[in-house]
Amino acid sequence: MKVIKEIAAMQDVADYFRCVGKKIGFVPTMGFLHEGHVSLIDKAKEENDIVVVSVFVNPTQFGKGEDFDKYPRDFLKDYFACEKAGVDYIFHPSAEEMYPSANKTQVNVAEISEGLEGAARPNHFTGVATVVAKLFNIVKPNVSYFGQKDAQQAVVIKQMSEDLNFDVKVSICPTVREASGLAMSSRNSYLSESEKKEASVLYKALNEGKKIVMDNNVSDVKSIVGKISDIVKLNSKNLQVEYIEISDNNNLKKIYDLSSFEGDVLISLAAKIGNTRLIDNILFTK
Ligand code: PAJ
Repeated sequence: MKVIKEIAAMQDVADYFRCVGKKIGFVPTMGFLHEGHVSLIDKAKEENDIVVVSVFVNPTQFGKGEDFDKYPRDFLKDYFACEKAGVDYIFHPSAEEMYPSANKTQVNVAEISEGLEGAARPNHFTGVATVVAKLFNIVKPNVSYFGQKDAQQAVVIKQMSEDLNFDVKVSICPTVREASGLAMSSRNSYLSESEKKEASVLYKALNEGKKIVMDNNVSDVKSIVGKISDIVKLNSKNLQVEYIEISDNNNLKKIYDLSSFEGDVLISLAAKIGNTRLIDNILFTK
């Protein structure tokens, strides 16, 4: 496994493999790798000849007052996790390499970037879409892997790739969870064991939401959201729900009534426990 820090060197390697007809699978990450990331790497290994993982904590997707400075970093641990998973190249640039001066060009994916996380974190998805566009031009992957954990990010990247004709297939992989149901996340390292236990109620509540839609035919979104919120409140003292929303996963438009809806339903939520902000979602077809 090799670590590449320079854009030009990564592009040369990508050109070489493209030229000899090898398929490049790419997993963009911000490091502090966990089993969720490794599941994307495993899928990339299965489906490609060469696997590239990027480890880059992208400053432009963090808002003022967010956790950029304290975002967990442990490159050595990531190095060994990648090596164990059979990664061929880690692309690990510095911020100066990626942004020698402030980008004058930004990628903004309208409408689908605006609700949910986009409403809570203004400019977040512009930062994400811009860095992923840059990474696609640097790593030149055939297929790039993203997690359903970040549901809106997945839809934003798919749309960007389609709109800008990137020659990259975007593959969305299932959320990997702890045995408790808690979605794995680098930010879980901020939580104490008891906070982790409390936070596991989020997925239980999302499942209950799915159940009342699919098994009990409840279609009024207000009562579904109310039920999910009640489960969180009843089972946790410290979780503060920021939003719970039901959307059409294909365009992320808010759904108000599910009675005549047919398609992919996304129930997503954000909640804070102490200073840590967690997101999770459940996706199902109605
Ligand atoms: P990061 O949070 O490190 O996540 C990297 C990838 O791993 C994303 O596609 C994310 O959805 C996926 N992932 C995280 N937790 C997961 C889990 N529990 N199960 C499955 N997949 C999971 O997302 C980012 O970094 C950044 O925004 C990035 C795309 C790298 C751009 O900077």
